[in-house]
Amino acid sequence: MQKQKRNFKTVYIFQHNKIKEMKRLSTILALSLAVILCACAGNKVEQGSAQQSNTENMNKKTTLVAYFSATGTTKAAAEKLAEVVDADIHEIQPEQLYTDADLDWHNQQSRSSVEMKNKSSRPAIKNKVENMDQYTTVYIGYPIWWYIAPTIINTFVEQYNLEGKTIIPFFTSGGSGAGETMKYLTPSAPKASWKDPINLTGKSKNEIEKLVK
Ligand SMILES: Cc1cc2nc3c(=O)[nH]c(=O)nc-3n(C[C@H](O)[C@H](O)[C@H](O)COP(=O)(O)O)c2cc1C
Repeated sequence: MQKQKRNFKTVYIFQHNKIKEMKRLSTILALSLAVILCACAGNKVEQGSAQQSNTENMNKKTTLVAYFSATGTTKAAAEKLAEVVDADIHEIQPEQLYTDADLDWHNQQSRSSVEMKNKSSRPAIKNKVENMDQYTTVYIGYPIWWYIAPTIINTFVEQYNLEGKTIIPFFTSGGSGAGETMKYLTPSAPKASWKDPINLTGKSKNEIEKLVK
């Protein structure tokens, strides 16, 4: 009877240990499975966001049309140009807007006359192109003032590292050509690759297309 009792106890302990071991194994299995599932899900999320940022990069434009316009003529030309060359567009906004009195070229004391007489004047700009690195080609537009680009264009050009970028000036005017634009503009970004200025005065979208392609 005593022996039978001992045998029973041994069998009981043996089975109990076996059950404990099985439980331990299934817990380990479940945990491993959970870890593998999490790793796979994480991988998928990473792949997804990498794909998304690739697509975003592909959709980013590499051409920028930046312009300053005091009375709207260059703005209209810039908008047509940006459509034609499939570019982002950026308006160069003076910190202090030019009033009609500022633009009076008959008055030697008007703001524009004073600024244009002093070639080292650098009128302040209110806004900035935050992602200039993105662009390989930058069209820069302006009205001709006293046969050159307004000095606010020098301010703009000097704000960025344009080394290696292709810069294509364009302008509108009351009748004159680019004048000495390049003489006063290129020293502001000597390492950029400058192209000849394009006259967009009175040009339609079709005409602009022919001029830039
Ligand atoms: C201060 C000032 C100077 C100007 N100088 C010239 C000039 O030298 N030659 C010219 O053909 N037009 C000149 N213009 C006319 C402008 O270039 C022309 O009206 C231009 O299309 C205006 O562009 P916006 O409307 O984008 O400012 C001048 C205009 C201003 C206000």
